[in-house]
Amino acid sequence: MAKPFVKWAGGKSQLLDEIGKTIPACFKYKKFTFIEPFVGGGAVLFYMIENYPELEKIVINDINSDLINTYNVIKNNINELILVLKELEKEYHLLEDKLDAKKHFYYSKRDEFNMRSSKPTMQAALFIFLNRTCFNGLYRVNRKNEFNVPIGSYKKPMICDEENLRAANKALQKVIILNGDFEETLKYAEGEALFYFDPPYKPLSKTSSFNSYSKEEFDDADQIRLSNFCKKLDSLGYCWILSNSDVKGQNPNDNFFDDLYSEFNIKRVFARRNINANPNKRGELTELLITNNAYEKTMSIAK
Ligand SMILES: C[S@@+](CC[C@H](N)C(=O)[O-])C[C@H]1O[C@@H](n2cnc3c(N)ncnc32)[C@H](O)[C@@H]1O
Repeated sequence: MAKPFVKWAGGKSQLLDEIGKTIPACFKYKKFTFIEPFVGGGAVLFYMIENYPELEKIVINDINSDLINTYNVIKNNINELILVLKELEKEYHLLEDKLDAKKHFYYSKRDEFNMRSSKPTMQAALFIFLNRTCFNGLYRVNRKNEFNVPIGSYKKPMICDEENLRAANKALQKVIILNGDFEETLKYAEGEALFYFDPPYKPLSKTSSFNSYSKEEFDDADQIRLSNFCKKLDSLGYCWILSNSDVKGQNPNDNFFDDLYSEFNIKRVFARRNINANPNKRGELTELLITNNAYEKTMSIAK
């Protein structure tokens, strides 16, 4: 099974079992369309491809153009990408004991990436290189869309995971890849369709926010726009599952999502996420998994 080829904030690898249990069993045996409007690192996408062999049409989307360019290059130009990554890996590993030279190499590749004037394959290779070598392996840009994460301290990090990249290349062959706002995915829905929404989470507090996947913020107005989109899909008879932060878990008076999705099925699940550097404050956080009425109908037919 292919795994996410980049580390991405909010990655769903630890919630795959919960999400899998939420998908009606009947989807195992019928042809359907799967649409993921906020694909990010793709943990759910690769899980679906592996576990739902009857999946007929798969559509992914993300607003981040650098991420989507990388998906396209992995799908269409894998051999050249692997060659470039191997070269970057070789050069970077040779500098392992030369801290200044290593730093210089990292920051010059970061500048090159931020100019965004290289060919798509080189841009994709730089994107993966930076993700593998930067601090904490996370993607973050400023308002000018410049990737601004400093160098990380990994010892000889693997930069070219050829086996996984080839598995991702194979998995992506039947995937339609889009780069835009989540609402644009509607025109790709047909027949029986299942959407999985994993938007940037609403921050639990003003300081805990991680929302810098792209230069555009995803704010409360976008969360409301998304809930309206979900209502529209429901009235069209499409199924959906949506994840978000459980703001009520943090503040019992905060009914933001309970109000927005009051007509749907809201489940609270434990997310094992060590987001706090202080182990005493890590605790067990709950997250929301919300499903819609069309979805509930499919479930009851399946039973
Ligand atoms: C929480 S992440 C998704 C995590 C992903 N499921 C994973 O496993 O890695 C949210 C994604 O939404 C994207 N995004 C932000 N605003 C968007 C919008 N208006 N339309 C589509 N995608 C958007 C971000 O670029 C980011 O990749």
